[in-house]
Amino acid sequence: MAKSKTFSCSECGASFSKWSGRCEGCGAWNTISEDAPLASGPASKSLGARRGSAVPLTDLAVEETPPPRTVSGLGELDRVLGGGLVPASAILVGGDPGIGKSTLLLQAAAKFARSGLKTVYVSGEEASAQVRMRAQRLDLADAPVRLAAETNLRDILTTLEAERPQLAIIDSIQTMWADNVDSAPGSVSQVRAAAHELTNFAKRRGISVIMVGHVTKEGQIAGPRVVEHMVDTVLYFEGERGHQFRILRAVKNRFGPADEIGVFEMTGGGLSEVLNPSALFLSERGAPSAGSVVFAGIEGTRPVLVELQALVAPTPHSQPRRTVVGWDGGRLAMILAVLEARCGIPFAGLDVYLNVAGGMKISEPAADLAVAAALLSAREDVALPADTVVFGEISLSGALRPAPQTENRLKEAQKLGFTAAIAPAGGKAGSGSAVGGGLTLTRPADLTGFVGETFGAG
Ligand code: TYD
Ligand code: MG
Repeated sequence: MAKSKTFSCSECGASFSKWSGRCEGCGAWNTISEDAPLASGPASKSLGARRGSAVPLTDLAVEETPPPRTVSGLGELDRVLGGGLVPASAILVGGDPGIGKSTLLLQAAAKFARSGLKTVYVSGEEASAQVRMRAQRLDLADAPVRLAAETNLRDILTTLEAERPQLAIIDSIQTMWADNVDSAPGSVSQVRAAAHELTNFAKRRGISVIMVGHVTKEGQIAGPRVVEHMVDTVLYFEGERGHQFRILRAVKNRFGPADEIGVFEMTGGGLSEVLNPSALFLSERGAPSAGSVVFAGIEGTRPVLVELQALVAPTPHSQPRRTVVGWDGGRLAMILAVLEARCGIPFAGLDVYLNVAGGMKISEPAADLAVAAALLSAREDVALPADTVVFGEISLSGALRPAPQTENRLKEAQKLGFTAAIAPAGGKAGSGSAVGGGLTLTRPADLTGFVGETFGAG
């Protein structure tokens, strides 16, 4: 034990028990070196001679005031940030190229600057003239935002040091170049070094830093995951190319709830806020059709109704297709298996397609019952009544579990004119209980009960 050494790769951070010239984790050459132990003790005789100094410990009970926040007035952004921008916070905004990150952040910069925050916008991707032209098009040219087109991180930090803004926006982290790191801009080590420098700078100087990060084909912010660990808040800007909707989603937030979403619409004049996302997501719904079901979901702290669409058709292939857009493929396979095993409804020999309308992505297990309803509706070619929402979790036994925030979901459905809901709820199962305001709630006992009541089979 006394002689055990560890080695790690400076590119990807993978650790090994022995040295080698090439990292098995990321394939980089000459990046592996021995880890120096920090603690003094018998295992680290040679390096442990210098002792650290003792760190003062405090109690949990010390009163802390919540951080002050600056609201931009762009309500959808403020909500996703957890109620406004926290000073000295580091924020990463990720998203596919062309999705609208620069547009969003220029609008945010203008809003913050107009509400009194000293704001600097650094573009490493576009020339100042291009950014100014966009600002003109968005009618933001008079906002007191200071602008620079630069990629040299050392120069940027020196400039920020001198200017002392309260908010710095860096577009994008992949274009930044730290001259103390010996690799090309956009490489993993450059991205990591730049993010590390900027995050430290934010903390040290009390400046909020928002960094833009492009997402790779695999759906991760290019560069190692450690960038996400470094910053306080990670937001993803999502949407489908063909759709106007854009969803800003908090996937990590040290200063607010994760999974909160903000909904925007891309227009000729930039991004506009969508104050009633449910209405927008349901706006393209036509006449009631088989396979279409409205799911009453919760995104972060707010209810959102979305349409699920399923198509079930005999397969020409030996292996039937299972295609999902906007939901989890593994979860779909599970629902199909439960329907077959517990309700005797086979999907063998049938292609199954499931789509969440409007480019929305759902990760809630509460969508299970709505998915099952869409699949059955498509399979039986029976349309559900158009004024019905469905939600609830399905367990492997075929039992149904109530979804969290049932009340909020029902309220939202009611607000949008729905008159019926099918959902497992706490308490005794039963049908036809009217919830306040005229919404009729049907509470199936289990999946078999649901199939029988809704599709008249079992
Ligand atoms: P952009 O913000 O440059 O995307 P990103 O920084 O994520 O790469 O936005 C690119 C797209 O947005 C571009 O294809 C044009 C469109 N767009 C509009 O539709 N309206 C607008 O007002 C602006 C500024 C852009
Ligand atoms: Mg951009």
